[in-house]
Amino acid sequence: MRTKIIAGNWKMNLDYAQAMSLVDGIMQMTDDNMQTRIVLAPPFPYLALVEMQSKMRTNIFIAAQNCSDKAAGAYTGEVAVSMLRSIGVEGVIIGHSERRTIYKESDYVIADKVRRALENGIQPIFCCGESLEERNSGRHFDVVRSQVENGIFHAGGTEIADSIIAYEPVWAIGTGVNATAAQAQEMHKFIRTLVKEKYDEQVAGKIRIIYGGSVNSSNASELFDCEDVDGSLVGGASLKASEFASIIIAMEKKLS
Ligand code: PGA
Repeated sequence: MRTKIIAGNWKMNLDYAQAMSLVDGIMQMTDDNMQTRIVLAPPFPYLALVEMQSKMRTNIFIAAQNCSDKAAGAYTGEVAVSMLRSIGVEGVIIGHSERRTIYKESDYVIADKVRRALENGIQPIFCCGESLEERNSGRHFDVVRSQVENGIFHAGGTEIADSIIAYEPVWAIGTGVNATAAQAQEMHKFIRTLVKEKYDEQVAGKIRIIYGGSVNSSNASELFDCEDVDGSLVGGASLKASEFASIIIAMEKKLS
């Protein structure tokens, strides 16, 4: 069975004290006997501190929210994947819709970021998802197909099998309107089929496809019942320890 993943994307929220108390809270409300892989994605300045704080836990992993598409050098303000690696970060969110829309990241820049992550042995959490207008006009499958093909299908089979794809419909992010379990399952299955067609059945069976967009403690359980939903990428609800822990526990219940 695929290891399940619950990832918290804190985005640009929390000061240092709040960040540390959130980690404390999550550590108190969860334990190492849980099978779910817990991923915390704090802002850059807290990465090393959160990594140190959670070091004794075997099921908590740290991810960055972004990285540079370049390896190193004169790129003021950028953060290289190798730097993340050197402080113990193990994953990186790439291609989040806020990066695509607000910072105009193209599929090609995103593809380079995925390349950098893979070169450095960091797990990409590759985000894709359609806008409301694209869904309403029936183009959601085409949009997700092209994001996935352009962004991550340059990876080798072993690399992609170990990667995470996060399906995050833009209309569900931060809106309180989550995709229904049926909508999530339909798209996750579609993505897994794309992986199978490009690579093979084994790779498709291994890749984790998680759902993001207004996941909370009330809707998590239903989403986690879906065969192809391997967890979630949680934004707003990851900022409260009790809420985030409830989502992790909802997943644990499916595994027991
Ligand atoms: P949300 O954000 O849970 O606040 O909708 C999800 C995300 O952007 O990853």
